[in-house]
Amino acid sequence: MNTSPSSKALPHLDARLSAAAAFVRPGSTAADIGCDHGKLSAWLAGSERCPLVFACDLRPDPLAKAQRACAHLGEKVQFRLGSGLDVLQPGEAQDIIIAGMGAQTIMEILNAAPWVFDPAYNLVLVPATKHSLLRRWLAQRGFTLQGETLAHAAGRWYAVMNARYIADPHEPKGLWCLCGLVEGQPGAEEYRAQQLVKLKKYRRGLTAGPEAEAVDALIAEVEAGKWP
Ligand SMILES: C[S@@+](CC[C@H](N)C(=O)[O-])C[C@H]1O[C@@H](n2cnc3c(N)ncnc32)[C@H](O)[C@@H]1O
Repeated sequence: MNTSPSSKALPHLDARLSAAAAFVRPGSTAADIGCDHGKLSAWLAGSERCPLVFACDLRPDPLAKAQRACAHLGEKVQFRLGSGLDVLQPGEAQDIIIAGMGAQTIMEILNAAPWVFDPAYNLVLVPATKHSLLRRWLAQRGFTLQGETLAHAAGRWYAVMNARYIADPHEPKGLWCLCGLVEGQPGAEEYRAQQLVKLKKYRRGLTAGPEAEAVDALIAEVEAGKWP
């Protein structure tokens, strides 16, 4: 029987974090930004998908939770306290997961680390909110979505995005922003309806101006409706 420390049972990942783990490249060093409970870090290191994982969080209490969850993994998981990617040197990790934060926070974290605007980095992004705005931001900054998986967790649909910088900044189509690459996946029609409801709610909170006009155009495009 294998009694090595990492042979302890792997933590259960929900559909959202399972889909995120599947986009992490085997053999890469990963950074789990906003690791909180530490399940993803523990799974990536414990399954030996990644020889080294940086478990990172802004706040001490979540980081302490992750330290407990990964205690049996020894040096395979290292812990960093601080905001976003500030805690890493460029190149320390090649696969970067940012899950469970709002799109705005994810965009701020990436903006503050221009070194990830490089095709060497494999980004796995799981926004808790405003998926459309994150897709639009990625396209405008020159990233492409290499893959995207719909995941149902805690009663909601999440889009798990796998992004890579390809130096091709462009203005994406509205429907692509709303639904990304999920057409044909189980739950895709429900996801699209969920996205439209959220977009309309977001629109109601905007005052007149360029952002309101852009969102109106997007709603009209979706309601006219085809998949991207
Ligand atoms: C909802 S939890 C998500 C946990 C886990 N990634 C998941 O998806 O299940 C969000 C975590 O992100 C952390 N966080 C928020 N802003 C952050 C930032 N700028 N840098 C690093 N961590 C951050 C919070 O402290 C919290 O532990």
